[in-house]
Amino acid sequence: MCVAGATGRMGSTLIREAVARGFRIVGAVAAKEDPNINRTLREAGICDLDVRIVDPLRIPEAVKDADVYVSFTTPEAEAANLPVVADLGKKIVMGTTGFTDEQMRKIKDAVSSRVPAVFSPNYAIGVNILFRLLRMMKVFPAGYDFSIVEIHHSGKRDAPSGTAKKIGEIISEVRGYTSISYGREGLNARKPGELEILAVRAGGVPGVHEIIIAGPYEMIRIEHTAFSRSVFAQGALYAVEWVYKQERPGIYSMDDVLGGL
Ligand SMILES: NC(=O)c1ccc[n+]([C@@H]2O[C@H](COP(=O)([O-])OP(=O)(O)OC[C@H]3O[C@@H](n4cnc5c(N)ncnc54)[C@H](OP(=O)(O)O)[C@@H]3O)[C@@H](O)[C@H]2O)c1
Repeated sequence: MCVAGATGRMGSTLIREAVARGFRIVGAVAAKEDPNINRTLREAGICDLDVRIVDPLRIPEAVKDADVYVSFTTPEAEAANLPVVADLGKKIVMGTTGFTDEQMRKIKDAVSSRVPAVFSPNYAIGVNILFRLLRMMKVFPAGYDFSIVEIHHSGKRDAPSGTAKKIGEIISEVRGYTSISYGREGLNARKPGELEILAVRAGGVPGVHEIIIAGPYEMIRIEHTAFSRSVFAQGALYAVEWVYKQERPGIYSMDDVLGGL
C-alpha cells in the first residue's frame, strides 16, 4: 500500500501498525514543505523501511506498485490528490475529516465511477457499531433530548469532529432534529427541534464521543473512548483488506466493510 500523510499522527501510526501486521508499504507521501521529503521512512524514524517519502507531485511514482492508497491528510490535500489516484486506477481508503460539502462533492465525482474507495470519519470498530446502535434510539418517546459531546487533542484542526457530525446525522434522521446548536452563551435556551453538538479541545486525547439522552426523570450516557490512534489504524487496515477485494467502483463506508458483523 501507499500511505499519504505518512509523517502525520495518523499516517505514521498506520504505517507502524501495517508493518506489524505484515502489510507491505511501497510508497509514502507527505506535504511538499515537510522536512522529511526525500528521506526514507527509516531516516524519518517512522519504521525500519527504506521507502522514500515523496511530495504529492510524485504520487504516480509512489502508488506505482501499490494496490491501495491510504490517506489521512487535510481536506485540501485530498481534493488535490484523490482525483490523481483515482485516475491511476488505485483503490482508496480515506480517513480525513473536515471537508466542505463542495469539496466532498467534487471528490466523490472524481472517484466514485473510477475505483472502489472507503471513506469513513472514524475507522474504530466500536464507533461503527455505535452508529448502528444509535438507530435504535428511534424508540424513545418525544420529550427525550439528545446531545453530543466530543473531546480531542488540541492539535485537531476541524470542529466538531467528523464522527460527531456523523452521529448528529444519524440522530437527526431517527429523531427528526432540524437544526444544530454548537454551544451556548448568555440567554440561549434549547429550542424545539435543536440538537446539541459540543467540541472540547484538550491535551493529547485521541478521541472521546459521548451521546447524552435525557428525559424528564432519567438520563443515559453512551461513550466511546479511543485509547490510542492504533484503533483507527486497525479499522483502516480492515478497510484496506476489504477494498482490495472489491471490483465495483463506488464510495463505500465502514458499514459496508463490517457487513453482517
Ligand atoms: N477516520 C478516522 O478514523 C480518523 C482518525 C483520526 C484522525 N482522522 C483525521 O485524519 C486527518 C489527519 O489527522 P492527523 O491527526 O494525522 O493530522 P496530522 O498529524 O496533521 O497529519 C496530517 C498530515 O498530512 C500532511 N499533509 C498535508 N498536505 C498533504 C499533502 N498534500 N499530501 C500528503 N500529506 C499532506 C500534513 O502535513 P503538514 O502538517 O505539513 O500540513 C500532516 O503531516 C484529520 O482530518 C483527522 O480528523 C481520522
